[in-house]
Amino acid sequence: SGPIGIMAAMPQELQALLDLMPDESRVQRGGREFWRGHLGGREVVAVLSGIGKVAAATTATLLADAFGVSQLWFTGVAGGLGADVRVGDVVVASALLQHDLDASPLFPRHEVPGLGVSRLHPPAALVTQVADAVAEALSPQALAPGGPLSHIHLDTLGLHAPRVHTGLIVSGDQFVNSAEDADTLRHHLPDVLAVEMEGAAVAQVCVAFGLPYAVVRTVSDRADASAHVDFERFVRSVASPYSLAIAMALLKA
Ligand code: ADE
Repeated sequence: SGPIGIMAAMPQELQALLDLMPDESRVQRGGREFWRGHLGGREVVAVLSGIGKVAAATTATLLADAFGVSQLWFTGVAGGLGADVRVGDVVVASALLQHDLDASPLFPRHEVPGLGVSRLHPPAALVTQVADAVAEALSPQALAPGGPLSHIHLDTLGLHAPRVHTGLIVSGDQFVNSAEDADTLRHHLPDVLAVEMEGAAVAQVCVAFGLPYAVVRTVSDRADASAHVDFERFVRSVASPYSLAIAMALLKA
């Protein structure tokens, strides 16, 4: 019954949400600015996650404990690792894992000490709901002339129509930008779809608080040597409008 917590990875994404909130008010806590108000008729708290696992976990903890959110959504970008995960696609997490967590030999590689598992799973019903919302928000009609996202010129940007993938997202305190590091991740986790720096940490916090959560990422790069190229432009022209459209579709659901 509490508000929905929306964590945005990038300032442009947060701003797009705030622009649609008629009544937002700012609350400062833990060096962060939380925005309380309404979006799509629902009570929400929107906030910038901060980059990396600790920053994101701190933000998620505050949303859970100080703002009493009833569920938590994370939107941002990620590096694509799955063979058919292309720049401009969207990945919905059905599992999250911290790829840089290794307390072996005390615990198996990647296992979260205390939880006895390495993979955390958002509620299956929410995963389905999010994947459906993404498919609706980014449908061919939405991107076609006259549609709500017709201002995104995918062909000019060299992008394909977005595909929606559901599966494993891994997180670690590292921006992956070499083919070698990307290969290492695929070697240890053959079913990995995407890599980012926050999702699995947020998942661990949500497990601690018993909160439903969802992680949605637009693929901005292939986690190789060209990963930083045009990052800003991609976020501004593609990832932000995508994440806003996805959030609005989800709020309707
Ligand atoms: N977020 C977007 N691209 C990423 C990458 N290549 N590695 C980690 N986080 C990312």
